[in-house]
Amino acid sequence: MITIEHILAQAAAIADDYARAVADIPYEHKGVLFSEILFLCAALGPERPERVVESGRARGQSTHLLATCLPECEIVSVERNPDSPDVPVAAARLAPFGNVQLLFGDAMRMLPELVREGDAVLIDGPKGYRALRLAFKVLASCRPRAVFIHDCGLGTEERKFLDRYVPETVYSDAPAFVERYAFLDAACRALDPDVAREDREPGRSYGPTVACVPYNPAQRYTSLLRRATLRGMLDRLGARLRRRLRSAER
Ligand SMILES: C[S@@+](CC[C@H](N)C(=O)[O-])C[C@H]1O[C@@H](n2cnc3c(N)ncnc32)[C@H](O)[C@@H]1O
Repeated sequence: MITIEHILAQAAAIADDYARAVADIPYEHKGVLFSEILFLCAALGPERPERVVESGRARGQSTHLLATCLPECEIVSVERNPDSPDVPVAAARLAPFGNVQLLFGDAMRMLPELVREGDAVLIDGPKGYRALRLAFKVLASCRPRAVFIHDCGLGTEERKFLDRYVPETVYSDAPAFVERYAFLDAACRALDPDVAREDREPGRSYGPTVACVPYNPAQRYTSLLRRATLRGMLDRLGARLRRRLRSAER
């Protein structure tokens, strides 16, 4: 099982090489933090998976970091929007890499077909309950080694759900990890000062935060999928009602 102690030990072993490998990679808006991909690589440990399947590429920050730091892995990246101005930016950044496959389509449909047993999966779009549904669907049917979900900071619906129902989840905002590796995110702060901060008020995370959900054969992913689907429906219904009430009050 992947624990924070395991991640801290692995990160200590690879951090210097990682920092050297990413030193010249620029940061892109909307991208994952440098420390978050160190967290992912440390969670995977020295036995790399054959493939990392990514959902949500945008300008390719995560894809670029994965392709650089996991050269022995095939990186399969799925992006829903082929018309976004981000597409040529990602294509240009990723052109030099022979281990990257860039696909277009809806990951909700494509990932359960693409992911194979033992792969690692990174979900950075869709968000919210859709991200949780995708994670549980893939965990239930494909048995990846782990699913990483981006944007699971304190206070998010994803975090509340995972904390309650999936206690084996490990987070990149763990204080011991942030204390050691926040220095890697200097370029992110230079572009967007609020994206990663150690001086936030209590109850807020250092940064967007990656959740690592390790595959656990004892988990009942199908019932987690049902629960996330129901919670997502209730959430959308609640939001719709609040909008109607607000417009009726005007
Ligand atoms: C925050 S951005 C991803 C940033 C990227 N991972 C990085 O580090 O640079 C989210 C992306 O997810 C894509 N997305 C949203 N829903 C999706 C889906 N169902 N399938 C594939 N991509 C999706 C969006 O179009 C957007 O480009």
